[in-house]
Amino acid sequence: MCQTAGRCLQCPWTVTNGNALRVLTIFCHPERESFTGALLDAFLAGLEDARHAWELADLHREGFDPRFRPDDFAQFTKGPAAMPPDVLGEQERVMRAEAIAFVFPVWWWSFPAMLKGWIDRVWCQGWAYDFTIQQSRGLLALERAVLLCSAGSSAATYRRYGYQEAMRRSIDVGVLGYCGIDDVAMHVFPGVDDDSDARPVWLATARQIGRDLAAEPRVSALSYRSQPGP
Ligand SMILES: Cc1cc2nc3c(=O)[nH]c(=O)nc-3n(C[C@H](O)[C@H](O)[C@H](O)COP(=O)(O)O)c2cc1C
Repeated sequence: MCQTAGRCLQCPWTVTNGNALRVLTIFCHPERESFTGALLDAFLAGLEDARHAWELADLHREGFDPRFRPDDFAQFTKGPAAMPPDVLGEQERVMRAEAIAFVFPVWWWSFPAMLKGWIDRVWCQGWAYDFTIQQSRGLLALERAVLLCSAGSSAATYRRYGYQEAMRRSIDVGVLGYCGIDDVAMHVFPGVDDDSDARPVWLATARQIGRDLAAEPRVSALSYRSQPGP
């Protein structure tokens, strides 16, 4: 653990303190100057406020390749295989962290394809989870996860069709919980395309989520915390 005061030039982490978490943030948006990018900045500012240590994985700017190739598939079907170097690099980032954050726009009621590909490739069988016909077991040691999702549709639409519950089940439970992270808080920021007046409020909320990361997740109408299953 880096003890440097201020941003450390020898490692990816910013300054940390005794109670802080090491937080890896996965950002996925083609435009860094988007509203989702502003959510990211606000969230990182909140992490800084609370003196959490953080590292950013900006999938588009870093050119992550989300395509699931034969080498990736061999790991899934034939057991431990030589993992592609870019996957190993991403896994090292995850292993350095105690908490993980995802900042992305909701596209088709889920992750954008780039982020889905990051999960497909990096959170692989034998590393993030261990699946057999008899049982499956999450392997990640991350303490908690938080998701900040910008969304074009209104809160009313999310409620009417149960999209929030569908996302919670598939992402919080089906992906993060499945891989061993029981403490998950999903925050959906609805109506961001129409409701520009509310954007300062959303950004203040994102900053507070960063500040509160080590505390109990904030509960709002569109926030979830998954519970360990029975
Ligand atoms: C391909 C695509 C799919 C989308 N699907 C959804 C969706 O399923 N639900 C939703 O609420 N918004 C959806 N949207 C709207 C985006 O969530 C919204 O425009 C974005 O979060 C706004 O943030 P930005 O300005 O940072 O891009 C979609 C947008 C695109 C481009």
